[in-house]
Amino acid sequence: METVTRLCGHRHCPPHWSCQVREQVLPAIPSTLLIPLAARAAGGTRFPWLDCDDHHAADLLQCLDADPAPYLADAPTVVNVLWRTRLLKAAGQDFFARHPRATGVNLGCGLSSHFQWLDSGRNHWIDADLPEVIALRTALLPDGTHRHNAVVDLRQPGWWHALGLPGREQSTPVFLVCEGVLMYLEPAQARAVLREFAEQAPPGSQLVLDTLSYLAVGHARLHASVGPTGAEFRWGVHWAGELTDPHPRLELQALRSAAECYGPGGLWAESCWQPWLGTPLYGLATLGLRD
Ligand SMILES: C[S@@+](CC[C@H](N)C(=O)[O-])C[C@H]1O[C@@H](n2cnc3c(N)ncnc32)[C@H](O)[C@@H]1O
Repeated sequence: METVTRLCGHRHCPPHWSCQVREQVLPAIPSTLLIPLAARAAGGTRFPWLDCDDHHAADLLQCLDADPAPYLADAPTVVNVLWRTRLLKAAGQDFFARHPRATGVNLGCGLSSHFQWLDSGRNHWIDADLPEVIALRTALLPDGTHRHNAVVDLRQPGWWHALGLPGREQSTPVFLVCEGVLMYLEPAQARAVLREFAEQAPPGSQLVLDTLSYLAVGHARLHASVGPTGAEFRWGVHWAGELTDPHPRLELQALRSAAECYGPGGLWAESCWQPWLGTPLYGLATLGLRD
C-alpha cells in the first residue's frame, strides 16, 4: 500500500523553508515516518509529562498537510515514541558532553530533527535515510552548517564508509541513533547493521536502537498506526543476547523497557511475561564496544 503525502507548498511553511516538492508518494516503510513525527508534534498535549519540546515537528506536519489525529488516537505508540525520544535526548546530551567534537548519525531519520537538542556548537550530525525520504528532507530540512542529510540504504553493506564515518582506528567515537527502523528489515539485514557498527566504529562509540519483541513479527496489521501503512515487522528480538551475538565486540550497555512508562503496574505486568518474552515488548537498547 502507498501513502500519498501532499505538500502544501507555502501555505503553512515557515518562510525559510522552501518546499519544492508539491506531491510526494512515499512507499509503505518510509511512510511510517509520519507516526513518530505526529507523536513528537502533538503527543505532548495528551501526555504533557512526556512532552519532548520538538520545535520542528508540528510545522513539518502542517507543511505535509498530514492530519495527526489518527496517529494520536494510538496512545501506546505515542507514549512509546515520546518515551524513547526522552531517553535518546538524554543519551545524546551525555555523549556530546563527553565528546563535544564527535559526529552523530541518525540512521533511518525520517523527518526527525534530533540535532535541535544535541547541537553542541562543535559537533557534526548526519541525518540518513532512503533516497525518497532524503528528497523530502532536502526540501523541508535542508543542510545546515553542522548537520547534513545523506542517502543510505541500511540493507546494503558498506553504509559506514558510504556515510564517511570515522574508521575504527580514529580516536573520536561516533554516536548513532536507529529508532523505528531495524524492525522493518529482514533479521539477517538487521544483524548485519549491528555487525557493521561493531566492525567499523571507533572505540567508545554508541548505537542506541529500539527493539521489538519477536511476538510482533508478521503482525504489523494489528498495529493501529503501522497497520494502515502496509509496512510489516520482520525483525524481533527473542532474548537480549541477540543484540550482541552479531559480533564479539558488541556490548549491551543498557536495555530499557517502555513498560516503565506505565508505572509500577506496567513493570509488574512485564515481570510476569518476562520469562516467556525474554526481552521487553518494546525497548530501547544502548550498544557499545568492548575495547
Ligand atoms: C518509523 S520511521 C522512523 C523515522 C525516524 N527514525 C523517527 O523516529 O522519526 C522508519 C524510517 O526508517 C527508514 N528506513 C527503512 N528502511 C530503511 C533502510 N533500508 N535504510 C535506511 N532507512 C530506512 C524509513 O525510510 C523511515 O524514514
